[in-house]
Amino acid sequence: MLRTKIISTGSYVPDRVLTNQDLERMVETSDKWIMERTGIKERRRAGDNESASDLAYKAALQALERAGVGADTLDLIVVATITGDMPFPSTACFLQHKLGAKTAAAFDVNAACSGFLYTLSVANAYIRGGIYRRVLIVGTEVLSKFTDWQDRNTCVLFGDGAGAAIVEASTDDSGVLSVDIYSDGSLAELLYLPGGGSKNPCSTDTLNNRMHYIKMKGNETFKIAVRTLEQLVLDALQKNNLKSSDISLLIPHQANMRIILATATRLGLDMDKVMINLDKYGNTSAASIPIAFDEAVTSGRVKKNDYLLLEAFGGGLTWASALIRW
Ligand code: UT7
Repeated sequence: MLRTKIISTGSYVPDRVLTNQDLERMVETSDKWIMERTGIKERRRAGDNESASDLAYKAALQALERAGVGADTLDLIVVATITGDMPFPSTACFLQHKLGAKTAAAFDVNAACSGFLYTLSVANAYIRGGIYRRVLIVGTEVLSKFTDWQDRNTCVLFGDGAGAAIVEASTDDSGVLSVDIYSDGSLAELLYLPGGGSKNPCSTDTLNNRMHYIKMKGNETFKIAVRTLEQLVLDALQKNNLKSSDISLLIPHQANMRIILATATRLGLDMDKVMINLDKYGNTSAASIPIAFDEAVTSGRVKKNDYLLLEAFGGGLTWASALIRW
């Protein structure tokens, strides 16, 4: 049976650091509030000339180098982003060109914070269906350029970054055991960016009403996230006939420390089995899982045959899980 195996990971975050103390000087907030309510200490902010495909390029190059394969061997590139270079063409096409991956098809996936697991699901379907053998999947975000720096409800949360993985067809019994994706469009307005699309094209009104920035009903989103993720991880375990004690590492979307704690508690997992880097990078949406995944791999927290549980929740609403045997 063909299985999807992750053969390498890579990541990139911009150099510029924005601390909670910096934010205290920008809006009515405090390091104490941000730490207590979110667990975030600092986040990265892309340079004025850096776009989503630039960050993606650096993460992808690292993943290719670590895999020891050339971009010309890629069959497909799938990029998850909500902050792409332009409405079109896709950020994946810009990335394809930067990498020189001439033979790869390329397209984007928009599933907000669940985006990277959506790209894994797409790659998994193509690989298991025997259509493509080697796929580059990337989550990349420059959220800082869509953040309302006057809105304390959102501006303290987000950060920029990118993470990538090379996945390919394999016949051994490790790799992606399951990947499940879900959506509920009825709750779209809990977390969205209303301006600039065909519904509300750019106009003086949309600019004056600050409609080109991310809007979130934080507390409502929080409650749904906790409830949904608790069920999601239990379903993933059940589907694979695993117990939570079988999980070596939970790699959650890094949105809020309290949400991560709630999921870990539901699973009865000690926090040393949970990958957390939210304090350093904030919520990087589609980039958060691949950045955390890459850090887990490169810091030696992932060992052969380990069961890894990945889970995400975000705008759409969307949510997703993956169970991987390393
Ligand atoms: O990644 C995709 C999915 N995203 C999520 O899952 C994020 C979900 N939401 C959250 O993480 C949390 O809801 C937040 C961190 C955004 C907010 O935490 P909360 O505990 O839900 O706070 P809240 O929105 O209920 O606000 C509590 C208070 C309010 O003041 P009042 O009305 O009680 O006087 C806010 O105005 O905190 C106030 N507040 C702030 N105070 C200082 C909101 N933002 C700030 C701030 N600094 N930055």
